[in-house]
Amino acid sequence: MEFKDQVILITGGAAGIGKATAKAFAELGGTVVIWDLNDIAGKELIDELKADHVSCMFQKVDVTQFEQVGNAVQEIIDTYGRIDVLINNAGITLDKTLKKMDPETWQNVIDVNLTGVFNCTRQIVNHMLEAGQGVILNASSVVGLYGNFGQTNYVATKAGVIGMTKTWARELGSKGIRVNAVAPGFIATEMVQKMPENVIEHMVGKTPLGRMGKPQDIANAYTFLASAKASFITGTVISVDGGIIS
Ligand code: NAI
Repeated sequence: MEFKDQVILITGGAAGIGKATAKAFAELGGTVVIWDLNDIAGKELIDELKADHVSCMFQKVDVTQFEQVGNAVQEIIDTYGRIDVLINNAGITLDKTLKKMDPETWQNVIDVNLTGVFNCTRQIVNHMLEAGQGVILNASSVVGLYGNFGQTNYVATKAGVIGMTKTWARELGSKGIRVNAVAPGFIATEMVQKMPENVIEHMVGKTPLGRMGKPQDIANAYTFLASAKASFITGTVISVDGGIIS
């Protein structure tokens, strides 16, 4: 029960990696708060967790909305009095090659994947500073390290998240707050499983470990980085990618 008495907030926690992460922290005794736009999936997950006697709560929050995020944070503080771990997991893709990338498509991805991470962290950091402790974990991607065809907007956000991670680690380390990023490779969430079979085969072929990652593989990295076992790790990016060759 490593996370007993700790409150873990997971953005975009109703599906995919976020959902697996919520379950992983719940199994380790944490109180789990899930934010998502998808309130049907979010509430279903909460019902499932509550049936297992997990302390948890769902809030319908759009991470692009600074004030909405602030109000939801206040509700968590009013309810539980603390936020120990923030996992900035919510993310979207809207892929187009550069020559077809219009400003709206660019901006929508920036708003969720980059400004959303700023909004959530900015609204929570003062509570962590007051508590003198906290862990912030950001979802990057291997494409933020290597670039990727057709993903100008997405790659910009995932590289930007690494920059914010390193900056916040410097600003907050002396205050007892650790900040790290996880760079998943090719992970079998619903979104990825809908891709054409030949694309999936190609990606698996480039992965030395010979399989797609599972959401649980990423959840394992998050629970490790949030735990006391990672107490000397900050400002870094951990790739969880089966050794994928860019
Ligand atoms: P997903 O699409 O399965 O889940 C993302 C969740 O975020 C959804 O439930 C969605 O409703 C929510 N969301 C979207 N916009 C939101 C907003 N404005 N406010 C609140 N919630 C919002 O995605 P997946 O695959 O689980 O990815 C999770 C994170 O991991 C993302 O940041 C993604 O970029 C990153 N990642 C995923 C990889 C993969 O292969 N699946 C690879 C590398 C990184």
